[in-house]
Amino acid sequence: MSAHLQNAVVTCFGDAYAGIDPELRPATRPEFGHLQSNLPLRLAGPLGLAPREIGARLLDAVHLGDLATAELAGAGFLNLTWSPAVLGEAVGDLLTDPHLGVPTPAAPQRVVVDYSSPNVAKQMHVGHLRSTVIGDALARVLAYAGHEVVRQNHLGDWGTQFGMLVEELLGEDLHDPAAVADLEMSELLALYQRAKARFDDDPGFAGSARRRVVALQSGDPTTLALWQALVDASMAEFDATYSRLGVLLTRDDFDGESRYNPQLPGVVDDLRASGLLTESAGALVVYPDGFTGRDGAPLPLIVRKADGGFGYAATDLATIRHRVDDLAVDRVVYVVDHRQSHHFDMVFAVARAAGWLPDSVEVQHISFGTVLGPDGRPFKTRSGETVTLTSLLDDAEEAVAARYDNPEVVRAVANAAVKYADLSNHLARDYVFDVARMSATTGETGPYLQYAHARVCSILTRAPQQTYPSTSSGHRAVGSLSHAAEQRLALELAGFAAVVAKVADTLEPHHLTAYLYGLATALTTFYENCPVLKADGEVRQTRLALCEVTRRVLSEGLGLLGIEAPQRM
Ligand code: ARG
Repeated sequence: MSAHLQNAVVTCFGDAYAGIDPELRPATRPEFGHLQSNLPLRLAGPLGLAPREIGARLLDAVHLGDLATAELAGAGFLNLTWSPAVLGEAVGDLLTDPHLGVPTPAAPQRVVVDYSSPNVAKQMHVGHLRSTVIGDALARVLAYAGHEVVRQNHLGDWGTQFGMLVEELLGEDLHDPAAVADLEMSELLALYQRAKARFDDDPGFAGSARRRVVALQSGDPTTLALWQALVDASMAEFDATYSRLGVLLTRDDFDGESRYNPQLPGVVDDLRASGLLTESAGALVVYPDGFTGRDGAPLPLIVRKADGGFGYAATDLATIRHRVDDLAVDRVVYVVDHRQSHHFDMVFAVARAAGWLPDSVEVQHISFGTVLGPDGRPFKTRSGETVTLTSLLDDAEEAVAARYDNPEVVRAVANAAVKYADLSNHLARDYVFDVARMSATTGETGPYLQYAHARVCSILTRAPQQTYPSTSSGHRAVGSLSHAAEQRLALELAGFAAVVAKVADTLEPHHLTAYLYGLATALTTFYENCPVLKADGEVRQTRLALCEVTRRVLSEGLGLLGIEAPQRM
């Protein structure tokens, strides 16, 4: 349709206007047709003509044939209405396309999505919830949009705290790695607390803990084995959470900080060689351009601390080098809460300055807001501790448990409630974890969309004899769509590819949640106005085809959000 309007502009006003974008938008009201363009208004200035005059000439010149009809409205808008047959064909195309109209990209990218990334011997908290849910949705959307996604779970599995933990294990006579690897999360947390208390109170213990860090870094076998056992115990917990949440992350995606340990001295050497490294109070730092504190003084990125230990930043620099040099990525997406924005800005700046991050590689920190408790403050337990992911999921399951007999459905609905509530927010916004609201079956919630899907499934199962001949078989499965509610549903369905592209581009999942909600609303209006099973002949077949495409778009769309769509609830 854009091309038709573009041709009309050239016919009327000459080549100077070739390629002008008619900026077609969905009509704001059904009586305005399906699409609107304000082209006449925009051309009025440059042409020095009245908008309605321009509109009339364009309508004269445009050749829409059987595609659509056009009208001039208001101060100079073009209202366009697809023909019922064209809309039917569009649905027919979706019916026979396993990929629902989503094209293969001209230049597929290799994209790292760095997400979840919890810390060993610590429980996952609500911040990790958002990273896990958002990162998983982005990984799914990017893959569906045709990109090659490399998931990376940048586990916090290295650092000085392991000296203390291993020393505590040995002090408690826990020498057997196999037994340590079997510890439950609660036992790991208790161990952490005992170790921390001793570290703070007992200077002798603190000293041996520091020597233990050196032993770990230099690869002492006993120390390494116990460290590995702690990592294994934590990974088992993380795996359990991932499978409960139904996220894609597996063992193969673990990309812990520890694996970069051997590269850290090289990071320092190369920064020194490129003249970027400065010494500051015994630490080795880089002052990237453009980063200053409130007082205007340049801000350092600490690469090696005064005690000789490498920090989080050094690891992230080594990680970028690995992703660029070995994984040959085109784009890296870090899904980490907003408190780390400054860290990533500086790391990216230093990596660019050092020449490790070519301009052709895009790096993005996808930052997100905080999950708040009912009081509107960052979510804490009554005793003031950060809320764990597991307890949030338990709350959600408890809220919906009474509704269903099937425990799998309980889980699917609880996950849908939590994930949809999270993803439907603008990422930057904080949101209140309100289980009652997120698990409601009405309003803009995950469970509401699951019901919309289950309802359309139930209609389809009641018409089991229906088959959908492919367009190539010469049979038209979808006739003309003459009812406004059918048309609106068809237009929504045809918008799936655009929303997938938009999320893959902007990395904002809320476009997809809003789209699916709009689709479910269009489906409801369709049911209210257009009988399906009670209709006959071609009308029935056409409406069933609309139901079938809607079922697939809902199920794929929810799937891209990491939300299961049970056939029955
Ligand atoms: N483990 C970190 C944390 O819990 C998040 C790591 C994010 N990824 C990264 N490449 N730094 O805060």
